[in-house]
This record gives sequence, structure tokens and C-alpha cells, in this order.
Amino acid sequence: MSTTETTASGIGPVEGAGASVYTVDNPAPLIEPPRKRTKKSPKSTRGNFEMAAWLFMRLSGVVLVVLVIGHLLIQLVLDGGVSKIGFAFVAGRWASPFWQVWDLLMLWLAMLHGANGLRTVINDYAERPNTRLWLKGLLYTATVFTILLGTLVIFTFDPNIR
Ligand code: HEM
Repeated sequence: MSTTETTASGIGPVEGAGASVYTVDNPAPLIEPPRKRTKKSPKSTRGNFEMAAWLFMRLSGVVLVVLVIGHLLIQLVLDGGVSKIGFAFVAGRWASPFWQVWDLLMLWLAMLHGANGLRTVINDYAERPNTRLWLKGLLYTATVFTILLGTLVIFTFDPNIR
């Protein structure tokens, strides 16, 4: 049996230079990984929400690139730039279901993407549970309010309003 007795740690034999103190007769102690699930650990009540949220940020980001760049081109660059924007321009655009759906998708995706991003920021930086609760309460209220109001405007816009 090759034992290189070293008591550098003060708690007993440790691995020496080159040779191990552990053999078949003297196996190394098995240390359980601290986060390993065993039969005794309580059943997880968490679903895959965070994974879905992670994926949503990437997918909505890709779609937002197209929607936002298209939006900026149409509103600010093409056809005379910003000077063309007015009630008539908006009325003309929203007469088409294509642009209604474009703007609706941009509204929903940007709001949900931005809200979920801020949820991450709050979870990361607000240390007290109460602070997190209030900040997220405010965030979700503002998000729902803006999505509902924006959706209402897109669908109830009346070009003949006086
Ligand atoms: C235009 C295309 C966009 C792309 C490609 C994009 C992409 C991303 C990605 C991949 C993340 C996740 C980063 C991470 O998990 O570390 C993220 C985070 C975030 N996004 Fe966007 N995003 C876009 C637009 C927007 C818009 C319009 C808003 C606001 C309404 C926004 C607000 C945020 C916020 C607040 C975060 C969290 C930042 C953080 O965790 O530090 N993004 N974005």
C-alpha cells in the first residue's frame, strides 16, 4: 500500500506529490454535491417559467429588431422624414390591418420584453423583499395599463373624429 503521509492540513493524510493516499482498501470519502436532489429533498414546485422567460427575451428581441427598424424607417426616414407625420398620416396607416397588426405586435412585444427585462433588473438589484414587491407591483401595473390602453387605441381609432 502506497501511503504518502502528509499532515500539512492538520486533519490527516492528504494527497502527496504524485501518489494518492487512497486505495481500494482506503477509498476517498464520498462528498455529496451540496445541491444534488435526493429522495429526501422536497419536490420542486417551480416550473420552467425562468427558462421560458429567458427564451422569450431572445425570440422577442429578434422580432423587435425587424419591427423597430421598420418602424423607424417608415416614421422617420422614408417619404420626407418626420415632417410627414400628422393625424392624416396615422389615420392612413391604421386604415390598413397590416400596420395595425405591426403596431400591435410591436406594442405587446416591446412592453413584455421591457417589463420582463426590468423584472430581472429589480430581482438583481432590489435587496429587500418589500422593495422588490412594490417595484414589481408598480412595474406590472404600468405594463398592463400601457398594453391595454395602446391596444384600445389601435382598435378604436376613429379617423373621422372631430
Ligand atoms: C430592438 C431589439 C431588441 C433586442 C435584440 C433585444 C435583446 C435583448 C436581450 C437578448 C436581452 C436579454 C439580456 C440578458 O438576459 O442578459 C434584453 C434585455 C433587456 N431588454 Fe431588450 N432587446 C431589444 C429591444 C428592447 C426594447 C424595445 C426594450 C424596452 C422596451 C428593451 C428592454 C430590455 C431590458 C430592460 C432588458 C433587461 C436588461 C438586463 O437584464 O440587464 N429591449 N434585450
